[in-house]
Amino acid sequence: MKICCIGAGYVGGPTMAMIAHKCDDIQVTVVDINEKRIAAWNSDELPIFEPGLDDVVKHARGKNLFFTTEVDKGIREADIIFISVNTPTKTYGVGAGKAADLKYIELCARRIAEVAEDDKIVVEKSTLPVRTAESIRRILEGAGKSIKFQVLSNPEFLAEGTAVEDLEAPDRVLIGGEDSEAGDKAVQALVDVYAHWVPRERILTTNVWSSELSKLTANAFLAQRISSINAISELCEATGADVDQVAHAIGTDSRVGPKFLKSSVGFGGSCFQKDILNLVYLCEHFGLPEVAAYWEQVVHMNDHQKERFVKRIVRTLFNTVSGKKIAVLGFAFKKDTNDTRESPAIYVCRDLLREHAQVAIYDPKVNEESVLRDLEEVGTFEPDNGKRKHVSVYQDPYEAVKDAHAVVILTEWDEFRELDYQRIFDTMLKPAFIFDGRNILDLKELRKIGFEASGIGKP
Ligand code: UDX
Ligand code: ADP
Repeated sequence: MKICCIGAGYVGGPTMAMIAHKCDDIQVTVVDINEKRIAAWNSDELPIFEPGLDDVVKHARGKNLFFTTEVDKGIREADIIFISVNTPTKTYGVGAGKAADLKYIELCARRIAEVAEDDKIVVEKSTLPVRTAESIRRILEGAGKSIKFQVLSNPEFLAEGTAVEDLEAPDRVLIGGEDSEAGDKAVQALVDVYAHWVPRERILTTNVWSSELSKLTANAFLAQRISSINAISELCEATGADVDQVAHAIGTDSRVGPKFLKSSVGFGGSCFQKDILNLVYLCEHFGLPEVAAYWEQVVHMNDHQKERFVKRIVRTLFNTVSGKKIAVLGFAFKKDTNDTRESPAIYVCRDLLREHAQVAIYDPKVNEESVLRDLEEVGTFEPDNGKRKHVSVYQDPYEAVKDAHAVVILTEWDEFRELDYQRIFDTMLKPAFIFDGRNILDLKELRKIGFEASGIGKP
């Protein structure tokens, strides 16, 4: 059995590494057009930071796990082909700002159609709008070859930062296939792959559309919980309630459950916003405006949470941050990843820069290049007009906070809990403000040191 995965990103890389690690009898080849990325997968410095991933990759690489730019060869040799390329939100034309841009998916399907020489099972792994499998199937069959393609949907539920654990012991694996004999056979082939290590009862099989829609719905529900608790955090601030206490109290109700109730500066990541907007677009497409508006509110609430956080900073710093050094600790969208896609930090920094603040950023895993690229993409500065000097990226948190008017925590990295806040206080301008956008610090202790400290939804 040979598997090929097109796309060596945050999803394709770890997922294929785990399959190779667990299935000695399967040869797994990950292909990508990005040479730099493939070179990194073949080096000691993997392109993505993910706890535990190095060991999994090292165990299998060169044995039954290969990373290469030879896309056609990978496709030609494989029995099962995973499509795991990026599907960003469209920025142009029809559906801009909501619909997924499927051009990379389509390119892959066309490539497979062109080079395949025998029957293939094609698996959609990227998060996609419902009915994409149908488009893939039509492109594959449109090539007019006598070979047969079966298209399966196998959405990824791993969360970044815990990808290895999530892949090793998934809550469930979902496989959607065509309701036919050939479809069942293809589904069974993929079930057999996962059954190498996942208990059979955790492998769910459905029709293709249910599988595709389940992925969007799962992410919409998760994001909705965060927007719900964030909505309550604003009310907490107005009333003197503590959002963590409220979250704990409601989370002990087994019907609600304790997870995903952590109020924050807002959710980020490549999936939540994109998937909800996909869902909204789908509802609009099918003439369901009330359903669309219901889910869109989850995203509006998230935008509001980021905006009001910045407004609070400006208000607290005597209504101006112009020319003031603001130290930003954390740029990744969550801890234990170097991924910054849709990170709330991007929007908080953007808004601070629009207020003419001097933003000093430190993140343990995100490099300067990524920070500057992200800020450039949201139109914060044109490199030539000198505005770039308002942003500086530091390698050391204590350097970042020196002479700052305020410290702003935007990612819940464990190391931020361990910093020497007395030392930080001593080197800052006074009054020294601290805004904890992740509620990871003990505000009372900080106040004892002398900080003017505030969190999210905290009295
Ligand atoms: C998510 C889904 O969890 C995963 O199943 C899917 O496959 C991809 O999308 P991911 O985006 O990697 O995973 O991370 P996740 O842990 O879901 O966090 C998303 C965002 O929500 C982060 O910015 C995180 O900080 C934030 N978050 C999460 C909160 O603000 N509060 C919480 O209680 C949980
Ligand atoms: P995800 O989080 O979904 O894994 P990434 O952006 O991290 O998304 O990874 C997607 C990868 O897919 C990128 O490395 C990109 O170069 C690759 N890719 C996109 N289009 C193609 C294509 N047509 N052929 C091969 N690889 C592709």
